[in-house]
Amino acid sequence: MPSWNVEAVRSQFPSLNKTINGRIPVFFDNPAGTQVPLSVIHAISDYFQTINANQGGMFPTSQATDDLVEATRLKLASFLNAPSADEIVIGANMTTLNFALSRALIKTFQPGDEIVVTRMDHDANVAPWLRAAQDFGMNVRWVEFRHEDITLDLGTLEAALNEKTRIVATVHASNAAGTINPVRQIAGMTHAAGALHIVDAVQSAPHVSLDVQSIGCDFLLCSSYKFYGPHAGILWGRHELLSTLPAYKVRPSQDIAPFRWETGTPAFELIAGIGATIDYLASLGDQSVEYRDQLVSAYASFSRYETELVAHLLDVLQSFPKIHIAGITDRARLGERVPTVIFTHEGYTSAEVAEILAAQGIFVWDGNYYAYELMRALDKPDGMVRVGLAHYNTHDEIDRLAEVLTTL
Ligand SMILES: Cc1ncc(COP(=O)(O)O)c(C=O)c1O
Repeated sequence: MPSWNVEAVRSQFPSLNKTINGRIPVFFDNPAGTQVPLSVIHAISDYFQTINANQGGMFPTSQATDDLVEATRLKLASFLNAPSADEIVIGANMTTLNFALSRALIKTFQPGDEIVVTRMDHDANVAPWLRAAQDFGMNVRWVEFRHEDITLDLGTLEAALNEKTRIVATVHASNAAGTINPVRQIAGMTHAAGALHIVDAVQSAPHVSLDVQSIGCDFLLCSSYKFYGPHAGILWGRHELLSTLPAYKVRPSQDIAPFRWETGTPAFELIAGIGATIDYLASLGDQSVEYRDQLVSAYASFSRYETELVAHLLDVLQSFPKIHIAGITDRARLGERVPTVIFTHEGYTSAEVAEILAAQGIFVWDGNYYAYELMRALDKPDGMVRVGLAHYNTHDEIDRLAEVLTTL
């Protein structure tokens, strides 16, 4: 397995080597969107320079777009280990795709049926189900989390499941505390109750090699702008479900999966960028193996590096008595989290900490980042500071954070 050469990786990202207000910034805002390598930027601009045509025409540029979309779908199928590229739907973003999915799914259920959501999820995997339940007279049940380490309480999931359960919607990795949930186990529990499992993999996709077949869920969603790509969303679903659910579509568009879910004209230039993003990730892995295994080996090497980084970040944060972290801090359990860490400071609001750090060129998030139920359950009306690491961050950048925190 190649060891992680962070400088070689950083050299591929123009934004990581540009000054803002006289210094190179530290990007710790990665859970809100990562920076993009030059190969992806080139793929997007090349699309306009060499192709730029709508799909389905008889002429070469249109056919080139058809080929490009198909090639990207195949790469995404490898990325997710999907059995078929026909199970890959590309859309504007995860939230929009999930609203479309929820509206179609809900029409197959009865009033009085039940939906299970969690208090850990980003609202993009809660609000669509609350809204659908409200519109169609379904009941909602909640899965709670343990406050001491922000892990899902599967006892509350077990208690929520019954013969009326139709949907269980859970996040794979929390966009706040970084917890990785046992989605495989949850898929098993969901199916034992006769329901469908929807996984929000938006925050796991940058850190964990995804495998829809191993997870065993029915739908999984992610967003390429969280894993070094352009602003777009991806929905994977089982082929029989994508083929038969009553998708909302215009009449002349193809009524087969995945096209029946892709309403309107897609952003082809971004689809070019998504393909280049998956190629970028594959290029970080062992080049002597097949494409999917290149991706798996890339994730293995950078997730090891990210675990070292998050251990250093926790060391730094825990050295300040006024800082309080929510989430897994036990060094023996770092495999149960992604490198996204949230904390409060006794002397400052999360917005104040973020502002002080921003003035020193360190970009972090504050507030609730749409982990709305989680912040309400933790009773944090001002939210928490979030430092989210990516595979291009360094020990030195964490030390820069430590220097500023020392001044608080
Ligand atoms: C866990 C999680 N789910 C869903 C979303 C929404 O994704 P999108 O912006 O693609 O709609 C986000 C965005 O931050 C997220 O972190």
